[in-house]
Amino acid sequence: MKNLGISIIAVVILLMLPIGAAAAEWYSLLTVALPYGALTVFLLGFIYRVLLWAQSPVPFRITTTCGQEKSLPWIRTNSLESPSGLFGVIGRMALEILLFRSLFRNTGAEILEKRPVYGSAKWLWLFGLLLHWSLLFILLRHLRFFVEPIAPFINALSAFDGLFETGVPTLYLSDLVFLTAATALFLRRVVLVRVRYFSLPQDYFPLLLLLCTAGSGILMRHFTKVNLIKVKELATGWVSFSPVIQEGIGPLFSIHLFLVCTLLVWFPLSKLMHMGGIFLSPTRNLANDNRMRRHLNPWDAPVRVHTYEEYEDEFRDKMKTAGLPVERE
Ligand code: HEM
Repeated sequence: MKNLGISIIAVVILLMLPIGAAAAEWYSLLTVALPYGALTVFLLGFIYRVLLWAQSPVPFRITTTCGQEKSLPWIRTNSLESPSGLFGVIGRMALEILLFRSLFRNTGAEILEKRPVYGSAKWLWLFGLLLHWSLLFILLRHLRFFVEPIAPFINALSAFDGLFETGVPTLYLSDLVFLTAATALFLRRVVLVRVRYFSLPQDYFPLLLLLCTAGSGILMRHFTKVNLIKVKELATGWVSFSPVIQEGIGPLFSIHLFLVCTLLVWFPLSKLMHMGGIFLSPTRNLANDNRMRRHLNPWDAPVRVHTYEEYEDEFRDKMKTAGLPVERE
């Protein structure tokens, strides 16, 4: 519970900071310096970490045992689990990134009648998938603040997202799904004792941060209205590198923006980097063609060896003096 407490305290402090900054009228800091600064940290940090991973040597194919590799013609190959070519790898990566395929195999373990019993556990996969897809929808819809004219696909996405036309303004399905999934994943860490046991502050923190960001956004849309024209001026100003210092869009907007900036800074420092890491994962992105090609370590340097014959030539006299047998006189 201590780790959860640390995260909650951190988020409460983060919620208070922008309110204080707005009260002190530090609008240039809130609406210009901070967003640009946070984006710079995000981009540089992201690139740095990806480059660091990219430098790790991967001399050989790392194969997984989940599927039959390509071998003899009469043995059926599993071309998605153990692909031997580029298209198979693209298929495996796409299924992993779009559908979290390996998480689908997640299993739960329980002790029943003093024996461990393993069973299917799909909840983590389901809520994980819903969280990521709804977040993508929300972010794509937000593009309407950044571009003018608004691209037709953004309007189409918003129309699809508000399909049921519930409430005024329309309640977006992605908002509902996101809140549900993030709450479920958060409660999983708090309620399940086994998961709580290994949860650290950095596990709770991003979920709380995302929940508060979405919460403040939903409050802005449905309860405390903000001046969206000012928001659009601000966002298009950032994109065109002619930022406008916006005053008084509202405390909720200050909180929303500040939390987004925190997330951007936190991103490269944390496990959220799995977004970049998945592309560099050798068990996903390397074709298993070990039986088709001989892989040689490209860094194998020629090694200077000292053969037994050379050794004997060097020490023959001493060996004979010591009474040791020699192969050649
Ligand atoms: C990680 C990034 C972000 C997340 C997760 C997020 C989340 C949300 C959510 C869930 C809503 C509720 C309504 C909707 O879905 O459109 C919302 C609304 C809003 N967000 Fe964000 N947001 C993010 C970034 C931003 C940024 C960078 C801006 C600055 C332009 C912004 C400005 C707004 C505004 C003005 C609203 C109210 C929209 C309305 O009244 O229709 N958000 N946000």
